[in-house]
Amino acid sequence: MGPRAAPLLPLLLALLGRSDPGRAEGCDLQPVTVEPPIALSYATSTVPRGCVSSSSLRTGHEVHVLSVEWSKAPSLPLKVSVTPRAGGCTRSVVLILVCSRCSATITSPCPDLLVRTDARLDTGTTAALAVAAGEGPLLAWARDAYGGITSYSELRDPRWIQLRLGEDPGSPPDCIPQERFDATLHLETEVFFHGTKGCSRGDTQSTRAAHIIRLQPEPSFPIMEVNLSLSCPERAVSNQILILQSRANVTWSLSVNNCHIQFLVSGSYKIAPISSLLLPGELLPDSERGLIAKAFEKNYSIIASYSTIPASTRVSLEIQDHEAVRRVPVTPTAPFPTVYSLPHLLLLMLQPWKCTDETMEIVIARSHLEPIKDVVNITLRDISCQAEKNATHFMLRTPLSHCGTSLEGWEHAKNELILNLAEGTVLRSVRVAFQCKIPRELFLRLFPTAAFEAPQTELEVNKEAFVQASMRWEDHPSDLQLKECWLAVPGREPVLLVQGGEARSAGVAVLQGPPSARGRKVWRFRFTYVVPEGGRVPFSATLKCKAGLQNNTIFEKVLEVTVKDGWRLPNNRGLGLAAVLGITFGAFLIGALLTAGLWYIYSHTRPISKLQPVSSTAPASESSSTNHSIGSTQSTPCSTSSMA
Ligand SMILES: *[C@@H]1O[C@H](CO)[C@@H](O)[C@H](O)[C@H]1NC(C)=O
Ligand SMILES: *[C@@H]1O[C@H](CO)[C@@H](O)[C@H](O)[C@H]1NC(C)=O
Ligand SMILES: *[C@@H]1O[C@H](CO)[C@@H](O)[C@H](O)[C@H]1NC(C)=O
Ligand SMILES: *[C@@H]1O[C@H](CO)[C@@H](O)[C@H](O)[C@H]1NC(C)=O
Ligand SMILES: *[C@@H]1O[C@H](CO)[C@@H](O)[C@H](O)[C@H]1NC(C)=O
Ligand SMILES: *[C@@H]1O[C@H](CO)[C@@H](O)[C@H](O)[C@H]1NC(C)=O
Repeated sequence: MGPRAAPLLPLLLALLGRSDPGRAEGCDLQPVTVEPPIALSYATSTVPRGCVSSSSLRTGHEVHVLSVEWSKAPSLPLKVSVTPRAGGCTRSVVLILVCSRCSATITSPCPDLLVRTDARLDTGTTAALAVAAGEGPLLAWARDAYGGITSYSELRDPRWIQLRLGEDPGSPPDCIPQERFDATLHLETEVFFHGTKGCSRGDTQSTRAAHIIRLQPEPSFPIMEVNLSLSCPERAVSNQILILQSRANVTWSLSVNNCHIQFLVSGSYKIAPISSLLLPGELLPDSERGLIAKAFEKNYSIIASYSTIPASTRVSLEIQDHEAVRRVPVTPTAPFPTVYSLPHLLLLMLQPWKCTDETMEIVIARSHLEPIKDVVNITLRDISCQAEKNATHFMLRTPLSHCGTSLEGWEHAKNELILNLAEGTVLRSVRVAFQCKIPRELFLRLFPTAAFEAPQTELEVNKEAFVQASMRWEDHPSDLQLKECWLAVPGREPVLLVQGGEARSAGVAVLQGPPSARGRKVWRFRFTYVVPEGGRVPFSATLKCKAGLQNNTIFEKVLEVTVKDGWRLPNNRGLGLAAVLGITFGAFLIGALLTAGLWYIYSHTRPISKLQPVSSTAPASESSSTNHSIGSTQSTPCSTSSMA
């Protein structure tokens, strides 16, 4: 739809009545000229009037004429960059810049550049310019003065202009300006849009405001991607929505700075600096009234800005800090299915949650939360579960049974992240419901006590350790069996601990696990890893278990543990203080007199140089023999385990 057809549309729709929801009634868009709520600009290579010619080829230089007009006095200097073609700066260049009432900065790597302008320049070679107003006299003067014209472009409200040098012998012999000229070959510019309109429904008390940008389809220049950079004032605004309408196959790439704003986008979109994940958009009406009705439907009853701009691959939008948008109430709003605020989008893209069949863990790098400023704290649905923070991360780790987590079956754990945000002096909270997938894998955990609480990765020698294997298998829980578990120490044969639900080594006992519930199975056993007096204690060990289905599908898990030589000595040089304390502690349980005895026994039995072999080297076997032991059970008072 061209710009000329646009005013007809509301009339047409008003006449047709039914084709648009009646809710758009009572909001007639009017130009917003005083204190516009946005500053909008877009990149384009189509100029209102322009031409190219080969007439400068006969002369000693390229001649480029830029004629700039302003709808309103510019507040910033115009930036003009003159860039050579791939071959470098080959010819001398004359740049004629007509820009009365403006100041400009002209940059170019080419030394042989003559600038003639009536603008105030901050640097560069300048020759004053005094030409009669109007396109005809300007072009005639340029032709007379320099023998030809390479390009002519009329521009309106440019923010910056990039002029690409070069002459084309295939251009027409004379530069005869045309309307809406495609200057792609030699020019790109970003222009301010001053046609913003707005309205609000008379009956409204709400201050929820919508900004709408409509991208005109451009059949001759179909674009696939739009980069939109959005920035908001230091005072964060909220309770606003940005509605972006374009052809459905356009991808919007949004870079957002300091905005707590909701999005409603036709076509797919992504928040560019954070993630390349494409979010699906929603098909939006391709009409002014349809879009306004859409905003009303989402309860945004002020159309703070409505802008229809030509198709462009780069758009920048600054939401201004002015009265209409400042006094927005801070009531939190429930998310709509397809309208997400930036915090929602961020969290849904980061997916910072990770679950096992017993725990939920949330880790968020604070740098990822950069686009939403001032996160005060983060909690789960149960607000007593608050994330800890260090210099770089927010972290939270909780059992699935806590913090308001709900489970339906074992496939997903559901909860909400609640972000408390400080917006100036006002606090706002954003709730993001999420579900985290519980992986279908075998989990292996080692516990220090029979309470099976607080798993650890340290295996203490000569002391009972408790192992739990678990896995979700909703389909047919009875199909899933724990096949076997091994303990392996580097440089030695692995020892079979449990096989087919039975203990296979001395010092191992299979325990009753909790009943399998709603598709999760749990197996437990205990064992004692014994290293006799004088035996060498390894640094680490691995616990490996396999669970399987009847059809021979096997799930395997390996748990690396460090080995701690707790009861005995950290080294073999004698009783250190730690060991004395340890023995003394034991003595409270056994009887004070024993301390002296143990000291005595130790000092008389301690090996001098020769290390005893560890009995866990007995080869593992698939047989059901119980002769293999992982420790000589008589060597330590802690080895109380036996076959259950
Ligand atoms: C995008 O959609 C428009 C119509 O909506 C169509 O004309 C154009 O061919 C499409 N482009 C691509 C690349 O699919
Ligand atoms: C808009 O507000 C009305 C009345 O307050 C409410 O019933 C409706 O659910 C709201 N619509 C949306 C999409 O939130
Ligand atoms: C949009 O921005 C991205 C990243 O900054 C860039 O790679 C891409 O080329 C840009 N696309 C357009 C159409 O400017
Ligand atoms: C989170 O911060 C807000 C604002 O400071 C406070 O009201 C709330 O109590 C905090 N929540 C927790 C769990 O500390
Ligand atoms: C903060 O905690 C995270 C997660 O535990 C950790 O990866 C990170 O190194 C910690 N950062 C600092 C500075 O301690
Ligand atoms: C075994 O059964 C499971 C589910 O019952 C199935 O997913 C798997 O593909 C099967 N494996 C083989 C080897 O048949």
